[in-house]
Amino acid sequence: MNRIKVKDNIFYIETAASCYVFGIWHGFAEHLYYGAKIPFSDVDVLKEKRSVILVNTLYPADDPTYSIDCKAFEFSLPGRGDSRSSSICLNCDKDPFDFVFDTYYLNSPSDQSPMPLPRKYDESLRVRFVDRIHEGVTLDLVYLVSYDDDVIARYSELYNGGNANIEILKFDSAQTDMLSANKKLVTFHGAWGREMSAVHEKLTAGKYTHGSYSGMSSAECNPLFFVADAGADEDDKEVYGFNLMYSASHEISAEVTPYGGLRILHGLQSENLRYTLRPQQKFTTPCSLSTYSGSGFNKASQNFHDFVRRSVVEQKDVPVMLNTWEAVYFGMDEKKMRTLADKAAQCGFECLVIDDGWFKGRNDDTTSLGDWYEDKKKFPSGLKDLSAYFAEKGLVTGIWIEPEMISEDSDLYREHPDYALKTEGLRKIVGRGQYVLDMTDKRVQRHVEDSVARLVEEYGAGYVKWDFNRRFAETDCTKGSGYFYDYVKGLYSVLARLNKRFPDLIIENCASGGGRFDLGMAYYTACGWASDNTNPLSRAEIQQGVSYGYPVSFTLCHVAASPGHQTMRTSELKDRINTAFFGVFGVQADITKMSDEETDMLKKEISDYKRCRKLLMSSDVYRIMTGEDGYRVTQTLSNDGKRGFLYLMREKFYTDTQLPVIKLKGLKKDSLYSISGQVAEVTASGETFMRAGLILPQNYQGAGRTDQTLMLTDSGTLLLEIKVKE
Ligand code: DGJ
Repeated sequence: MNRIKVKDNIFYIETAASCYVFGIWHGFAEHLYYGAKIPFSDVDVLKEKRSVILVNTLYPADDPTYSIDCKAFEFSLPGRGDSRSSSICLNCDKDPFDFVFDTYYLNSPSDQSPMPLPRKYDESLRVRFVDRIHEGVTLDLVYLVSYDDDVIARYSELYNGGNANIEILKFDSAQTDMLSANKKLVTFHGAWGREMSAVHEKLTAGKYTHGSYSGMSSAECNPLFFVADAGADEDDKEVYGFNLMYSASHEISAEVTPYGGLRILHGLQSENLRYTLRPQQKFTTPCSLSTYSGSGFNKASQNFHDFVRRSVVEQKDVPVMLNTWEAVYFGMDEKKMRTLADKAAQCGFECLVIDDGWFKGRNDDTTSLGDWYEDKKKFPSGLKDLSAYFAEKGLVTGIWIEPEMISEDSDLYREHPDYALKTEGLRKIVGRGQYVLDMTDKRVQRHVEDSVARLVEEYGAGYVKWDFNRRFAETDCTKGSGYFYDYVKGLYSVLARLNKRFPDLIIENCASGGGRFDLGMAYYTACGWASDNTNPLSRAEIQQGVSYGYPVSFTLCHVAASPGHQTMRTSELKDRINTAFFGVFGVQADITKMSDEETDMLKKEISDYKRCRKLLMSSDVYRIMTGEDGYRVTQTLSNDGKRGFLYLMREKFYTDTQLPVIKLKGLKKDSLYSISGQVAEVTASGETFMRAGLILPQNYQGAGRTDQTLMLTDSGTLLLEIKVKE
């Protein structure tokens, strides 16, 4: 359909609502525009018009009006007149690099990568630059367009066709130069148990950098971020969203330039990067994604949701699951598992996940990682037998594994101490009593693949929870942080082989909760555990953070016990259930200890959830309140605009206060809708619910109540259903 058009070396990439334009001048790839769609026929007017030299800037010798410092570029290297941060830094025999435009290819069959790329896209453009100093060295910028989702994916490739090693010191996945500043940067910070907290930073002067340096995409800084007009909100003004399809350390930087522009860089962690590219080798950056919305954050998030569902995650039906972790921790045995299975089947669960503690000698977290064989003391009849029992009850067997890890006290370590990442002579650095395996080693890759395959082939697992609970310390010093790139390359190759071998297997992505909740892992797994923290108050914030970039169909949400094990906060079962509804639903608590009343509530919830999950998984999500006045309100709406849900979390109760009026979003203005659930049915047109809003019944105000009074106190929630009245 010609989504990519070219005219006089000006490249125009269009999506449904945006376009991205750059061209070639003086051999540079000059960025011209990214934003709301404008016609291709107008691209000539985008060129900056300058007739005299800016006093203090550098320019190519044959064109004094071309002030390099003021231009926007697709990539920049040091030593070429651009004094802002570079996206690529290379070293080879001390000579600089001087890449100039050579040629371009449309829809080239060589658009491939050892890193995950979108499964689907409409068209691609590959623009080649050759180095004038080192013969045979080329740099390709590759753009993949997903028209309907308004997403452009980008990556770069450096090919060393020369005869000397090239040292890569920095190699970002994307440089996005914006011609105007006055923007804010939104990144997602946190730590274990409080992942994905949105932080808005007004960009004024200088450079703001954030990222992860632990080897993982991390709970501390997710690779998702946004650059938006300073006044942008959920529904208004221009917002640019970015993410990486990558699971290791990464960096985000936003630099306000002295000439009124903004340079956005993101990609691999550049700190301590030393990666040697030998002759005839190619280095491909992780894939960067960008989306544009002219109407606030909600639309940018919806673009990402559509794209992730269509082009990142291989969609599989994730079952409603009961997970044993917070139910029994390491104290599991065959009998307990059968009792849990009996009750799980009665409640309507579809899968029982046997979490940590099932393998040889694993009674706490100090031993046994690597010995992925059933513990005969706990399971005398064996896991195969247990799995057959689960199947009789209609339950898929899920098994937890942390295959990239090893405990010193394990048979694997006694046999293969060299599999672990440990450097002799250094003081020991341990995390949770364990070490990371060297996934760059082919023998280790085979061990990991075989271990997971055994869960499926011998123990009958149809679901595998893949965990990763410590970060890196000792790595190969010759590569510095480049080691993490090779590590995930090894990891991805194993995951790809397993997916091919077991196409029906569902893999859950977990890393102490959301330590590796990213689109690299999402490419190989069906769902992700966003946080170990299941307390509704914390969880409402975490899930809203997640919703900025990741769809509900990828986000596992569990009901756990009260008081919550991470926060010690008490909460009502209803509020835990309502909160877990906005994702892939599950429970991790000892359901055999639930009262009859609680069991009935859970059964009803599971059956309601099953009734509408298909719709929920593909619905659009709208954030309505994101913490303002202590409320978090999220709404979903099906693609045909006919059905949705509304979730409200009241963080704190104050006497004598009214609940907010909720202005719904996306409804068809002329259709008649009914809203019901924990409140009596209200009927009105879409227009009224969007403009005047939903007026909720009076909430308890500290004294006096009737049957109609809502009782939303601390962490109180509402879950309402929205339906078109046919
Ligand atoms: C960390 C995970 O996030 C938990 O859900 C659980 O699987 C434990 N690991 C088990 O060790």
